[in-house]
Amino acid sequence: MKKKFYVSTPIYYVNDVPHIGHTCTTVATDIIARYQKLLGKDVFSLTGTDEHGAKVAQAAEEKGLSPQKFCDQISENFREIWSKLNINYDYFIRTTNPKHKKIVQEIIQKIYKNGDIYRGKYEGLYCVGCEKFITENELTNDCCPLHPNEKIQKQSEENYFFKLSKYAPLLIKAIEDPKNKYHYQISPQSKREEVLSKLKRGVDDLSISRANVPWGIPIPWDKSQTIYVWVDALINYYSALKINQKEEFWPANLHFLAKDILWFHAVIWEAMLISAKIPLPKEVFVHSFYMIDGQKMSKSLGNVISPQELLKRYGVDGTRYLIASSFPYDSDSDVGWKRFTEKYNADLANGIGNLVARVAKLCEKADFKTQKLSGSYFQSGKTKEYRKALDEYRFNEALAFVWEKISQADKYIDNKKPWTLRGKELEKVLQPLVKEIQEISFLIKPFLPEASEKIEKQFSGKIKSEKPLFPRIE
Ligand code: MSP
Repeated sequence: MKKKFYVSTPIYYVNDVPHIGHTCTTVATDIIARYQKLLGKDVFSLTGTDEHGAKVAQAAEEKGLSPQKFCDQISENFREIWSKLNINYDYFIRTTNPKHKKIVQEIIQKIYKNGDIYRGKYEGLYCVGCEKFITENELTNDCCPLHPNEKIQKQSEENYFFKLSKYAPLLIKAIEDPKNKYHYQISPQSKREEVLSKLKRGVDDLSISRANVPWGIPIPWDKSQTIYVWVDALINYYSALKINQKEEFWPANLHFLAKDILWFHAVIWEAMLISAKIPLPKEVFVHSFYMIDGQKMSKSLGNVISPQELLKRYGVDGTRYLIASSFPYDSDSDVGWKRFTEKYNADLANGIGNLVARVAKLCEKADFKTQKLSGSYFQSGKTKEYRKALDEYRFNEALAFVWEKISQADKYIDNKKPWTLRGKELEKVLQPLVKEIQEISFLIKPFLPEASEKIEKQFSGKIKSEKPLFPRIE
């Protein structure tokens, strides 16, 4: 039987249209899903939208729409752009789906029955931008550092609390001890350390309901309270499988997300699952952020890069390539139009595009027939480095491996000067070159699915010149 692999992106808030940050995580996750398929696994890949909470309700009100209508519109934007970017997800979950709501209520009820939820008074601060409770000493100039233009809400109300503090010691053991029955991995290492040290400093219980935020799922035993949007949202990873009757994919192999939402995914989610007696995900991977020309991306700075613009300039595979090669692995990554265009021209137009055109032209003249790439190529030691890089989500290293092959192939052509050869001699030089192109085409599959397909077609049977894969951008 095939091994299963279940991978998720965060579900994005619908208060905002998709931007390059969302695109980064979604494209990266799609690359992983496609790679895992190449390894022969049965993959389930999930994305979706997070539609409840004060932030979304506010955004809807500003647009003069009912929250549901507003969610329908923005959620559609996400689906549309993912399809344009050739994202091969298996399901798109929306938290306003009635089936999701029911499952959230069931799980909360289970945690309640387990004695892990109690009623108490929450007095403190809340940042609507983060949908998160924050403390005085986290503030900068009386504002949340991530939302300097938004008012912090003072909140004083009766809420339900989840006994998060009770689970802290257990989670520490679970993270540290690979033999622990709750063991899960947080990667990269730096993020694991961060979570551990915060857990060791001690954690408070978590308010998991709101009294005055009607846009959400009611607490099943007290309809005057709405389930905290994060609790509702995290459960999507589990409910999506139930909705699709694909429970056999649980526990998830990988939750893929960025550092802003690390704590929710690496601590709160696991504590909830232990309490609800549901097995824990195997790995939480946390990447860093894109910065635009050295600055945080923000509407007020007007430096937001949209996936639509990226697509217009660089095409589907061009965009996917630029995202993957600038992926912010464990530190923030600076991106911008100038850099993107230079990289596109160097690696795609002049790199792979030019090599493929060169070889096709030589083969065309030589009346050349190809052989199929051996199926064992991917399993062979020859691709070990590439696979190791992708197993650790180091996209740039995997790409460097492929681009090294491209540059070696270029050098080989320069050395052998096949344009001076004829007949059998020419064929002897071209044979390994064509094989090399087939290998390259195989390895770019997760990143550049369209280009890979085109090259595969071009290099099977009688080889002919075709239109350039990646036209140069001036
Ligand atoms: N709705 C919550 C997630 C709930 S998951 C159970 C949320 N949504 S969000 O729309 O704000 O998306 C946050 C995620 O978007 C980040 O974790 C990251 O994956 C992606 N990014 C947003 N901005 C980013 C950058 N500037 N750079 C890279 N990725 C970023 O949080």
